[in-house]
Amino acid sequence: MKHIQWNRRFLAAAVGMTMFCTAVPVSLFTAWTADAADGAVLYSADFENGTNDFTARGTTETFEITTEKVHSGSYALKVNDRSSSWNGPQLALDSTISTGTEYVVTAYATTEWYCNSLTLSLQYDDASGNTTYSNVVSQTSDGSGWVEFNSKISFPSGSTNQYVYFECSDAGAAIYLDDFTLSEAPEVELEDIPALSEVYDGYFKIGTAIAPSTLASKTQMKLVQKHFSGSITLGNEMKPDYVLDQEATLAYMEQTGDDNNPQINLSACAEILQYCSDNNIPVRGHTLIWHSQTPDWFFKEGFTDEGDWVSKETMIVRMENYIKNYMEALETQFPNLNLYAFDVVNEAWTDNGTPREAGSSKSEDPNSSAWVRVFGDNSFIEYAFQFAREYAPEGCKLYYNDFNEYMPTKTNAIVEMATELKEKGLIDGIGLQSHLDVSFPSVSAYRTALEKFAATGLDIQITELDVTTSDTSEAGLEKQAQYYSDIFDAIVEYKDSISAVVLWGITDDGSWRADRLPLLFNGDYTAKPAYYAIIDDVPPLGGETTTTTTTEESTAPAETTTTTTEPIITAIRGDVNQNGKLEGADLSLMRQTLLTLDTTADLSDAEWIVLDMNQDGMVGTPDLVALLQFLLGQA
Ligand code: XIL
Repeated sequence: MKHIQWNRRFLAAAVGMTMFCTAVPVSLFTAWTADAADGAVLYSADFENGTNDFTARGTTETFEITTEKVHSGSYALKVNDRSSSWNGPQLALDSTISTGTEYVVTAYATTEWYCNSLTLSLQYDDASGNTTYSNVVSQTSDGSGWVEFNSKISFPSGSTNQYVYFECSDAGAAIYLDDFTLSEAPEVELEDIPALSEVYDGYFKIGTAIAPSTLASKTQMKLVQKHFSGSITLGNEMKPDYVLDQEATLAYMEQTGDDNNPQINLSACAEILQYCSDNNIPVRGHTLIWHSQTPDWFFKEGFTDEGDWVSKETMIVRMENYIKNYMEALETQFPNLNLYAFDVVNEAWTDNGTPREAGSSKSEDPNSSAWVRVFGDNSFIEYAFQFAREYAPEGCKLYYNDFNEYMPTKTNAIVEMATELKEKGLIDGIGLQSHLDVSFPSVSAYRTALEKFAATGLDIQITELDVTTSDTSEAGLEKQAQYYSDIFDAIVEYKDSISAVVLWGITDDGSWRADRLPLLFNGDYTAKPAYYAIIDDVPPLGGETTTTTTTEESTAPAETTTTTTEPIITAIRGDVNQNGKLEGADLSLMRQTLLTLDTTADLSDAEWIVLDMNQDGMVGTPDLVALLQFLLGQA
């Protein structure tokens, strides 16, 4: 059995250590350069002459320069007597940097002893004055070697009081820092390669997800303009937790007595929406109704976390006001925006085709849903589509969006729901997130899902495509390229039903799954093998595709999923949730899958591999027992 071991990229260099500590008087040493050219170093600190401009984040830390652990020269900064994990050295940047510009921080840091995470983070006050913290990168520190940091950072427009800082999960461990630099990020010339938007011109829009930090990077934006200007999604900033404004909602309630009217604040997404509006780039709204990234106060009496959960009737009123206010704010503030699509509901069905468990965004189970808690079931979905249809701008198509959309019971649940909504004229399309891995799902399973969704007659969009690989060697990236190519072949087969293919990010280093390199471009902006694989052999429009599925084939039973053009299937036996490891969660998911599985006829090859744990050619309870035994054997 293949068992994936996730790689943890650990950048550390061994250094010599002297056995005694020398305290040196603190002196301020500033190395700001006046007029920094593109790529020039704006600030550096080697701690040879003092602690430089670094200050303590907390109240207990002591600062000294030390010879105990040194990356280069004779001294490093030692920050001792920390009393919370967030304590450590910080550098104020407000007089040095400009907002909306990208910088590069390089530094070496280490800790007194092993620390699970040594983190480079940013702090700033956003445009509304809220203090915001963001972790740029976390690495493990073994306490002996130095951990190298080399990260791109930026601060959103309108922010103030910016800091960069280091923190570490173990509050008791001293943090050491050496050879810190801050530079303006250089603008890199793009490779002379075909634009994805041109390669797929006439097939479907090619788009990507971006963040305010993308906007700050001149080179990332050149990649967006060249390859992905067909469609932009905001990776986070249009989600409920960003747009729902609790303070404004409470103030509105106080002023008007209306205690069911959530107020909207678009400041987090404004810059990107303005950019798209100015450059006429179509925007996919993501997302209105979701169990995740939605605050509990939205569902509570008095709009406070402490209130009781409201009734279903009240929540319907709140939902209507929320969607109405959201759409009105978009229309008023961005009258020229081409908001061509919106994910009205995200991730409402489990892999078993059932509604989520009732829960809250604060609950221990991040998969549970406050919508289900208030409505008792998934009936909130239809209300959401009704209100979206009523208030969304003309021309804005409405989608249901989900992940693992190729799990057969989930596919069926989505198809059933979408068909009902279509009959009522409420839905325009289905969004397949498509967060894939080279080992799962098989391309035939993905193609089967496309076929079922296309058969609804609704539009399909691939909304968040990325393909992780735990093997980040050259061979691993080649395998990833082949998988991307096969998935694109399937997408091209269904091009008549697909209006957009949106990648979930641009360069690997900016991905939400950065350690498994899921995107088309490297951190240095060069194209990966995966990029070359998907621009190769794109059949001419109107011409014959090599692997066309005919209508007869599409209604034929399961044999059609095992064609000779299939790549080798590398699904992991028992890994039902496809996260690369076998665990208790797989056991309960396998049990639920078996309970709800009417027939094995529709299972794809990969699903057979995943479910047929004991490899006896049958899927059933003995597989559950085999998985249990395997897990017990591991414990
Ligand atoms: C992810 C973002 O990319 C992350 O930055 C954030 O921390 C969590 O959400 N399905 C979705 C997206 O619909 O909104 C999620 O985006 C990825 C999974």
